[in-house]
Amino acid sequence: MTDVCAVSLDPIVYLNGELVPLSEARVPVLDRGFIFGDGIYEVAPLYARESGRTAFRFPQHLARLARSVGKIGIANPFDDAGWRELIDRVVAANEADGGLPADQDAIAYIQVTRGVAKRGHAFPAGIRPTVFVMVTPLHLPDAAQRAQGVRCVSAEDRRWLNCDIKSVSLLGNVLMAQFAAENDAFETIQFRDGMLTEGSSSNVWMVKDGVLSAPPRSHKILEGIRYGLIEELTAGCGIRFEAREISEAELRAADEIIVSSATKEVLPVTLLDGQPVGDGKPGAVFAALYAAYQRAKDKEAQVAQHAQQGVENESRERLTV
Ligand code: PDD
Repeated sequence: MTDVCAVSLDPIVYLNGELVPLSEARVPVLDRGFIFGDGIYEVAPLYARESGRTAFRFPQHLARLARSVGKIGIANPFDDAGWRELIDRVVAANEADGGLPADQDAIAYIQVTRGVAKRGHAFPAGIRPTVFVMVTPLHLPDAAQRAQGVRCVSAEDRRWLNCDIKSVSLLGNVLMAQFAAENDAFETIQFRDGMLTEGSSSNVWMVKDGVLSAPPRSHKILEGIRYGLIEELTAGCGIRFEAREISEAELRAADEIIVSSATKEVLPVTLLDGQPVGDGKPGAVFAALYAAYQRAKDKEAQVAQHAQQGVENESRERLTV
């Protein structure tokens, strides 16, 4: 367990080509991210292992980043190799200055905005995107939250209809998170026209009679990287999965409700609007998915380690030839 004091409160971050302490990173007020929320972001877990730090499901995170910039007409500032190199640089800088202990799980936060320009709604020509990367500790839900489940509240989804873009325009999500906080709840589950969409910062899953369901991929939800992962995990666990519209009444009669995100992994919801979900305890499908998720993390770490060993062996062989 990492000593909390060892974690830096002023990590080294990347901003537009430079590595600087977070406290010194500055963007001009005319950055369109600040003025219009005109930008996108990504949040990817970097799990600490003895063999090194593994970015989990990173190709999928980078593919979503590419989709997000593409959907708002920003040229992707880096290709996948460039993004990987950049994250590695930021991690290395934080490890080197002692701010990020090697055994500390972390989160890579990436933000790309359209850039800085005189205020005007339509896209200005010829500006350079602002690129910001921050690597900070990841504190996963604790064992008690997994054992007892979390309580959620619900509300009408009043956000815009491009929820598939991981936009920094998050006011609708912020208001939903605040609604949860004010009601001593972990998350707000949203419904649009009586049908389940998602949480303020998570995807929502329902279990009924052993079948796992989630709203289909569409512009009404952000397709979490855990969406595809859970889909894959169900196959390995022998759990039937259906992507389909779920009514509010169905969700309230569910045997299990599960939320998922990069920072929560999978977490059972045991109370919704004060009513127990199923028997009020985390269920068997949650337990199976949580175990499968941990195995998927181990497997990716092993694959990364083998790949790294392969690279090292190859360069050793080249040196000895
Ligand atoms: N949010 N839906 C919304 C609205 C989200 O904000 C998130 C994640 C998800 C789940 O996506 P993923 O499985 O890729 O984390 C779904 C991140 C964690 C955030 O905003 O910090």
